[in-house]
Amino acid sequence: MSAVGIVAAAGSGLRLGADRPKALVPLAGRPLVAWAVETLLTGGVDEVVVVVPPAERAAFAAALPGAVALVDGGDTRTASVRAGLAAAGPGADTVLVHDAARPLTPPDVVTRVLAALAAGAPAVVPVLPVVDTTVVVDEAGTVTDAVPRAPLRRVQTPQGFDRATLVAAYAALPDGVELTDDAAVVRAAGIPVTCVDGDERAAKVTIPHDLHLAGLQVRR
Ligand code: C5P
Repeated sequence: MSAVGIVAAAGSGLRLGADRPKALVPLAGRPLVAWAVETLLTGGVDEVVVVVPPAERAAFAAALPGAVALVDGGDTRTASVRAGLAAAGPGADTVLVHDAARPLTPPDVVTRVLAALAAGAPAVVPVLPVVDTTVVVDEAGTVTDAVPRAPLRRVQTPQGFDRATLVAAYAALPDGVELTDDAAVVRAAGIPVTCVDGDERAAKVTIPHDLHLAGLQVRR
């Protein structure tokens, strides 16, 4: 089995409020995207493609090892992953799609995803339980229902796929349909998605508080 990693790093990161794309924001002196690439390679991925904002290609090239391929992303995450898939070299039979916004994902998570793929799963996601009470609210902000949390999971990345399965699922996804992760794309094509244990350290950096927490984690 050979695996290519696609790092989605073409987002603007508006919610972080930084002066540059989120993936280039430093954490302990290294851009978030560099952490994400290192995690994939340490965890057992053979090659990496990073999907970048077209206007920032030079900055990403300067921040990453030369062996990493760069490809221009699109306006949405779905478009960016499509571009990454199209640019991946022909050798790999499995694909791991990872968010640059999850810099401190332990390589063990990558290893678990790869092991489940090797055991025959066509699609694999790392997940964590939901610990808060979870409710439905109406437009006025009034709680209308409570959702039983026991069967709920929070889904992280990297998500792993049999390559032909992921390519076919993206090809079948109608233009204009935007989904927030890749497991949703394969589920839309009727493919079962297997869960492995995620890790709290793989938390996504979205708002400034997340970056603060990540900084504390690195210093430990
Ligand atoms: O916006 P969000 O935090 O959900 O983005 C998840 C990941 O998808 C980020 O790493 C971001 O860089 C990436 N992304 C992308 N292309 C876009 C939007 C987001 O690669 N157009």
